[in-house]
Parts: sequence; structure tokens; C-alpha cells
Amino acid sequence: MRPFLLVIGAFLHFTSAATPVCTNGFTLVNDKCLRLFTSTVTHKVAERTCMNYGATLVTIKNAIDNRGIQTVTGTFSYTLWMGLYCFGNDVTKCLWDDASGDASLYSSFMSGYPQVQTGKCVFYSSQSSTMGKWYSSDCENTTRSFICELPTTYQDDCGNNYNGFCYTHNSAAPFITAQETCEASCGNLVSIHSANENRYLNSLFLQSGSGSILIGATRTSRNSYSWFDGSLWSYNNFDVTALQTGNCVAMSFGTSNNVSAGSWYTVDCGSSYGYMCKRPAGVQCPANPPPVTVTPVPSNPSYCNSTLLMAPGTITTPNYPRYYDNNVYCTYQLATLGAYNILLKFTSFVTEAKFDYVAVYDGDNFNSHLFGNYSGTPGPFSLVSTGNTMLVTFRSDKTNTFAGFSASFSSYVFHS
Ligand SMILES: *[C@@H]1O[C@H](CO)[C@@H](O)[C@H](O)[C@H]1NC(C)=O
Ligand SMILES: *[C@@H]1O[C@H](CO)[C@@H](O)[C@H](O)[C@H]1NC(C)=O
Ligand SMILES: *[C@@H]1O[C@H](CO)[C@@H](O)[C@H](O)[C@H]1NC(C)=O
Ligand SMILES: *[C@@H]1O[C@H](CO)[C@@H](O)[C@H](O)[C@H]1NC(C)=O
Repeated sequence: MRPFLLVIGAFLHFTSAATPVCTNGFTLVNDKCLRLFTSTVTHKVAERTCMNYGATLVTIKNAIDNRGIQTVTGTFSYTLWMGLYCFGNDVTKCLWDDASGDASLYSSFMSGYPQVQTGKCVFYSSQSSTMGKWYSSDCENTTRSFICELPTTYQDDCGNNYNGFCYTHNSAAPFITAQETCEASCGNLVSIHSANENRYLNSLFLQSGSGSILIGATRTSRNSYSWFDGSLWSYNNFDVTALQTGNCVAMSFGTSNNVSAGSWYTVDCGSSYGYMCKRPAGVQCPANPPPVTVTPVPSNPSYCNSTLLMAPGTITTPNYPRYYDNNVYCTYQLATLGAYNILLKFTSFVTEAKFDYVAVYDGDNFNSHLFGNYSGTPGPFSLVSTGNTMLVTFRSDKTNTFAGFSASFSSYVFHS
């Protein structure tokens, strides 16, 4: 009997995993989940609305997809934001928001388009005379209806599956090693966003006596912290009586520790602790294949004074990990697909405190919001842009040099 049951089990698992299901009022059209939003909004608001469902603006890869839009619009006339962003007047410069590449394999632009002087965003017309044609449009100046596209979801049979995430406990390592280990299985050191989630994590250690685990929070300045995975800092459970000295964060568990169970306190980033990784449930590893790098790789491996279109990548001070020079000035322009944000993770950072500065801007120019002006040894930390660009500068003064910084950047969907 036993082999027979195993075969049935494998078959059931396969069928349940292979059947796409649409939730949240999305409709299955040509193996995609689509949903029409008829209210007219700017491109950015449309993207945010889709993201709130875990979706992107619709991507159209073939004539069947293009006609399939009419399944959701019916006979009504709309202009609809699409998940396509053009950097130039050529379909090879138009990139899909789902990171699947450019529009050269299939496009349905009206002749004379794309036309980036009109705008870099793209809309689809379901108006009868121009049905199925695509046009360029200013992203901010006009409002349109839109269609969101949701990927299919899969079940996950990982051990600790809670609220859409899988958690795994690992034995002691310092922060960066721990984070890298989590990333190797498509996760991050755990970020915690509610008291319930904090309590759930603690519940995993009920049998373990007392101890602590590293969590994925780091200090970005004197009194502020961020999640290294880029998620919003929306909740914390610091023990206010514990000294806040280190730049990394641990959570206490069990009963006999001098920090109460479930409370957080800071630790040195170089010290080893057990740690918890967190990844979305139901994703294959790698979760989201990273977008293709389209910029020719500059000969300078630090990327000092480069524009890096498309994550992922790593920027460093010149000579890194050897010391940078005196009187160095570098700018690093980072950009990714229109529907994404940039997650910049400083994994290593040593400059002359109060003299050699790294400034990070939330945008592509010096008028953009300054995230911070960092020097010294701020420890590992991460920043997330609100748009699809980021500007980083590094300036050393005329004396004293150090190893500098190394920071990885990747495309990131901002979960609001
Ligand atoms: C937005 O529209 C206004 C008025 O129609 C125009 O002056 C402005 O240049 C437009 N901005 C962009 C970025 O196209
Ligand atoms: C608990 O107290 C001991 C001694 O006072 C100290 O060395 C240790 O770091 C404390 N543990 C925590 C988690 O604060
Ligand atoms: C980077 O560009 C700036 C401005 O063009 C220049 O002053 C600086 O010397 C350049 N840095 C390096 C390392 O070439
Ligand atoms: C960073 O701080 C240094 C020292 O105060 C200052 O010279 C520099 O202009 C600052 N950079 C920015 C971008 O604010």
C-alpha cells in the first residue's frame, strides 16, 4: 500500500501546485490574473494600487494577451496604464515592469510611438477606433484607468509557515554571514511587522530555554533603525531598559534572560547569534529573477562616476577593499525598472568619521530628498528609494583614508 499512497500524494501535490488561482476579484485571462480599475489616476498611483494586491500593472507579451484585455474591458472605452516604461524611442528601450526584458518580441505601438518626449509611460487604448494600440504618455500629468496583473500563487509546505511567510532557524553567525545565508535561500534575516508576528517567532522557542536570535534590523542613525530587507519600519519591541549600544538587533526568548522574552536589544554586528530567516511562502527559489543588466559594465569595478541602469549590482569606493585615496569624489547613479524601487544595502562601511562622507539621495539629482550623509562606521544598514532612481556620492578629504564602503543594490517592490 505504501508506494501507492506516495504516488497519490505526489500527484495531489503536483496538481494543487500547478493550478493557478485568482484571488481578490482578479479574473483568469490567458493564464494571468487581471483586474480592471476604472477610476482614473496617475501612473504612480496605479502602480501603488496594484502593489497593494501584490500585483503589477498589466504586461502584454503577445497578440493573444493584447486581445485578452478586451475580456476585462468589455465594450467600454478606456485608456489604460500598462506596466511598460520607455527610456528611448525604440521598443528595445521599453522595459516590462515584470523584469521580463524589453518590448522587441511583441509590441502594439501606434505608428510614431514610443515617443519619450511625450512621456516615458505607456497606455493601452480600448477605444473602438484605436483598439489595442499603445501610446506614450506623461506619467504624472495625466490620469487613466488601469489593469493590474497578479502572478499565480502556490502552496508551500515549509515547517514554519505563518501569514504568507516561511521562517527558518539557523545556528550562530555574525550579521553579514547570517544575512548572506538567508539570501542564499531567497530570504532575508527576519523583519517583524506586528506584535502577532513577534509573538509567533517567540512561540518557536518555547521549548528552548533562554537565549537570543539576531533579527534583520540595523541602526541607520543614532535613534533610527531599518529592516535590512527594505520593508517598512512599522513596529518595534525594544526593551527600553536595555542599553542600546550596538548597530545590530537581537530578540530575547525564553524565560530566564535579563531581557524579557520577545524584547529586542542592540548587539555588536560582529558577534555571532542564532538567527531566523524569512522568505515569502509559495515562491520558487530564486523568487524573482533579477532584471537583466543592460548597461555595459564600466572598466572601473567600483562604479565610481557611473550610471547603472538596472539592478542588481554592487558599488564600492575606488580600490575597495583596499583603502580609497585622499581627495576622491565619486557619484553613482542607480536606476531600475519603473515599477520597482531600489534597495541599497551597505554591507560594509568604514570612512574617516566626520570627514569622509557618503551621501544618498532618494532620486536622480541633488535636489532629491537626502536620505542621509554618512561617515565613520555606521554598521550595516539599508535604504529603499521611493521611485526607481537613487544617487550616491562619496567624498574624501585631504588626509586619512580607510577601506570605504561596499553596497549592493537590487530592484525592490515597496510593500506599503
Ligand atoms: C504638465 O502639464 C502642464 C500643463 O498642461 C505643462 O505646463 C507641463 O509642462 C506638463 N509637465 C510635463 C512633465 O509634461
Ligand atoms: C544580562 O546581564 C549580563 C550581566 O549583567 C550581561 O553580561 C548580558 O549581556 C545581559 N544580557 C542581555 C541580553 O542584555
Ligand atoms: C568623478 O567625476 C567628478 C566630476 O566630474 C570628478 O571631479 C571626479 O574627479 C571624478 N572621480 C574620479 C574618481 O574619477
Ligand atoms: C555631509 O556633511 C559634510 C560635513 O558636514 C558636509 O561638508 C557635506 O556637504 C554634507 N553633504 C551633504 C550632501 O549634505
